[in-house]
Amino acid sequence: MKKVLHIVGARPNFMKAAPIHKAIAERGRLAQVLVHTGQHYDVKMSDVFFTDLGMPAPDVCLGIGSGSHAEQTARTLIELEKVFLREKPDLVSVVGDVNSTLAGALVASKLGIRISHVEAGLRSFDNRMPEEINRIVTDRIADLLLTPSPDADANLLKEGADPSRIHLVGNVMIDTLLASKARAEELSTLADLGLAPGQYAVGTLHRASNVDDPKVLGGLLSALAHVATRLPIIFPVHPRTRKMLADQGLSGMLERSPGLRLVEPMGYLEFLALTSQARLILTDSGGLQEESTALGVACLTLRENTERPITVEQGTNLVVGTDPARIREEADRVLDGHGKKGRVPELWDGRSAERIAALYERVLGAGSGALRASAW
Ligand code: UD1
Repeated sequence: MKKVLHIVGARPNFMKAAPIHKAIAERGRLAQVLVHTGQHYDVKMSDVFFTDLGMPAPDVCLGIGSGSHAEQTARTLIELEKVFLREKPDLVSVVGDVNSTLAGALVASKLGIRISHVEAGLRSFDNRMPEEINRIVTDRIADLLLTPSPDADANLLKEGADPSRIHLVGNVMIDTLLASKARAEELSTLADLGLAPGQYAVGTLHRASNVDDPKVLGGLLSALAHVATRLPIIFPVHPRTRKMLADQGLSGMLERSPGLRLVEPMGYLEFLALTSQARLILTDSGGLQEESTALGVACLTLRENTERPITVEQGTNLVVGTDPARIREEADRVLDGHGKKGRVPELWDGRSAERIAALYERVLGAGSGALRASAW
């Protein structure tokens, strides 16, 4: 049987790889190996997702951990090469844009193993973002470019990618969201936090450009503090952000705004229960922009750009930058009932993993690549 090797490493990878692994397992025509690089290693950043997503324990755990970009990527390259030589996969499937994605693609390309990049073609056109470098390099060397939306196809074509490499499969992370939403909303998450549906906001910040500079982080917190005078904001704190809050002495500011409620990072289902019933989401996450569009919840993106423009063109997302005055103004607009309405982009329909599994079979000669029910 031909073998697909999946690589996951950081939190946003798990909900993308899980439905692909499941679809391939259900169809039963390909063998699979799941490798966790260990880029994220905390229980709350990693283990809980395997439980929540019903993903089997990884076959291989590399335990790479944190470090500078060079250290983290280099360690991952060295360890992945050993795994690839041992496992001899016919195709390496990488998702997203984290350092583990880049490392997986780089090792596979040097060993002449076919690479599939799921979530190809997204561009912020901002090379200061480490994720942008990871996206560009991975797409340049991947054999299969699996895109979530037509804007990604257009970016790849503009960069000279051969059209035969590009496959518009839709947004696989939304497969996970749609499959999990009802189960998430049965949890007691809102009651446990003393919240009522539609009466609270959710905030997240973790991007280096937002949290590593005290001036930027302070400004963003002051904007969130303003919003928190109107309704509670639940703010699950990413480890990077928690460290920066402590290092930059910003805790006093948080104590003065009781409506801004900092909590530990949440599991997938708990967090989905929270976002799906929120009035407003304020974030610098890429995935959350897409999830809020799929959920129809207003989203303000606290960045100067997005690699996911479809969430702005069609969805509920507005890119508002990091100027506190602008953020306050746009949040007030949403809370006064004048928020942006949106629709869900085509092919964000819960069937992307099925399309990907069928494509892998076709490419590896393990079947006709027919879908179990018409989904194209
Ligand atoms: C990484 C991804 C980013 C993604 C984010 C989601 C890259 C370049 N960045 O950023 O695209 O949006 O994951 O969370 O791959 N830490 C812990 N426990 C953990 C993981 C990290 O405490 O389980 C701390 C460490 O101090 C570490 C810091 O968080 O140095 C940053 O982790 P790292 O994996 O380097 O990048 P993220 O900021 O999480």
